[in-house]
Amino acid sequence: YQKDHIQQHIFLVGMPGAGKTTVGKALAQRQDMDFYDVDALIQEKTGKSIQNVIIYEGEEAFRELEYEVISDIVTNKKPSVVATGGGTVLSEKTVKLMRDSGFVVFIHRDVTRILDDLDMEIRPLLKESIEYIFRLYEERYPLYEKVCHVKIQNASSIGDAVNEIIDALPNVER
Ligand code: S3P
Repeated sequence: YQKDHIQQHIFLVGMPGAGKTTVGKALAQRQDMDFYDVDALIQEKTGKSIQNVIIYEGEEAFRELEYEVISDIVTNKKPSVVATGGGTVLSEKTVKLMRDSGFVVFIHRDVTRILDDLDMEIRPLLKESIEYIFRLYEERYPLYEKVCHVKIQNASSIGDAVNEIIDALPNVER
């Protein structure tokens, strides 16, 4: 694969635990691009944990912060790989911004596999129950499908997921 041929940002969307950050970092390294994680940027910007931003400032304010952070990348950074939060696609204006300035990739992963990994981690909106994540999955799945340019599977290895994305990129010379 040749590098230096990506002219737009790559935004990774999908459920918490789908592998957006892990796959994103590996993809960025492979393509020699910078990597940004929207949750991490919001924590830097606010000096608070994601959990505290959501609890004390509310989900609407959090969605606005996601928009601001992505705007900043789009305006000021060279084409990069951007891992979004699981709920970033809930904001129409954020979806529009991502679609207008990049390639949106839905990272799909079986909900059962997500659950296997997630119970070891703390995720602000997912700590409740298994039913909750199933419901979230059902609610969000159509949205991820609708907003993405392409859907890829994170079913086996990180390397395979990265390859799938690279194969799907519209403007990479191979
Ligand atoms: C959220 C997902 C989280 C984080 C926040 C809200 C959501 O990101 O942005 O807790 O609404 O699904 P990850 O998908 O990286 O866990």
